[in-house]
Amino acid sequence: MRFSSRLPRNLQPSDFSRLQSDLAASGDLCDLTQSNPTLAGFAIDPLAGLDLLAAGQGYHPSPRGDLAARQAIADYYRNNGHGEIDPEDLLLTASTSEAYAFLLKLLTEPGDEILVPAPSYPLFDFLAAMEKVHVERYPLRPDPGGGWSIDFALLEERISPVTRAIVVVNPNNPTGSYLGEREAATLAGICTEQRLALLVDEVFLDYRNPRHADAARSAVGERATPTFVMSGFSKILALPQVKLGWIHSAGPAPFKEEARQRLDFIADTYLSVNAMVQRAAPALLARQRPVQEEILTRIVANEATLAALGVTAMDRQGGWYAVLPLPPELGDERCCQQLLAEQRVLVHPGYFYDFPESDRLVVSLITPPEQFAHGIACLADFLRQG
Ligand SMILES: Cc1ncc(COP(=O)(O)O)c(C=O)c1O
Repeated sequence: MRFSSRLPRNLQPSDFSRLQSDLAASGDLCDLTQSNPTLAGFAIDPLAGLDLLAAGQGYHPSPRGDLAARQAIADYYRNNGHGEIDPEDLLLTASTSEAYAFLLKLLTEPGDEILVPAPSYPLFDFLAAMEKVHVERYPLRPDPGGGWSIDFALLEERISPVTRAIVVVNPNNPTGSYLGEREAATLAGICTEQRLALLVDEVFLDYRNPRHADAARSAVGERATPTFVMSGFSKILALPQVKLGWIHSAGPAPFKEEARQRLDFIADTYLSVNAMVQRAAPALLARQRPVQEEILTRIVANEATLAALGVTAMDRQGGWYAVLPLPPELGDERCCQQLLAEQRVLVHPGYFYDFPESDRLVVSLITPPEQFAHGIACLADFLRQG
């Protein structure tokens, strides 16, 4: 009896994860990596007063998803200044992660490759391995004036005959950098020329830093290049538990039609989005503003705490994370281990996100403010002592 090579051989937790779970279980952990909004002590409950179970009575399965829900998502793009989209170009999924899985099923064969940014979201390897797809990385480089840019020379070098798609996270997790207008045009050109699809993950699109307010541009406006934009309620409405994501398909007419039909086929095989959330989607999306305002206020307050405690963070255009440069001699792994073992403070090492050097830490800016201030004060002491 064998298990599939889609799964990691070793599923044992590392010593670091074991210590982290033990401390969390004993209530003795100051977690600066908390990015589950339902555990972050927000006052606003986006589900208040909604009877989801009653909303979901009756079952009319549709692979693309409830039209009223897809219309509400199209309204979300229009109301947020990203232009008009056709609800027929949207397909509902149970999460953004499932959207990735559907797109990999749509576009790849086992053994194919996708290009993903580095540094970025750590889950790509697992999502790709589940489809027997390889991940190749293209670097993002910090700009001298703040922000991060794609290294196009290396990106093009890494395209091979089995590359099928380029993934962009807009804004990127954890660097918070948005895809610039010129970068988007260059990427679209490369994808068209090399016959690749562009996959754009926009779960953090709305969480822009007010100093970079005009940086946030959704890729749903792209028409000429095969482009699939993914997003979902887990970040937009701080509702990871209700499980609703989506894919917006765009591209030249014959391609888009065929992609939509094939995505319908994939979705029809699973029908994974529950009726409750589909029916409640318009009412939930109407709550976007207050939910996001509370989160943005928290992010700004925690950034002020970093500044007040003398901890430098890299420039952030958007998103929920702060990237903290470390003196190179400290090392991200050693720093995280010592902070956890000696101070009971959990931060993420840069290597989790594929930073090329071991001189970055990552913290979540939605951590409850008192917890954040305590943990950052411990980190500041630790950094002073070197
Ligand atoms: C960049 C990015 N994409 C996708 C996801 C997963 O989203 P979902 O909960 O909708 O699967 C996350 C979760 O943190 C994320 O950071």
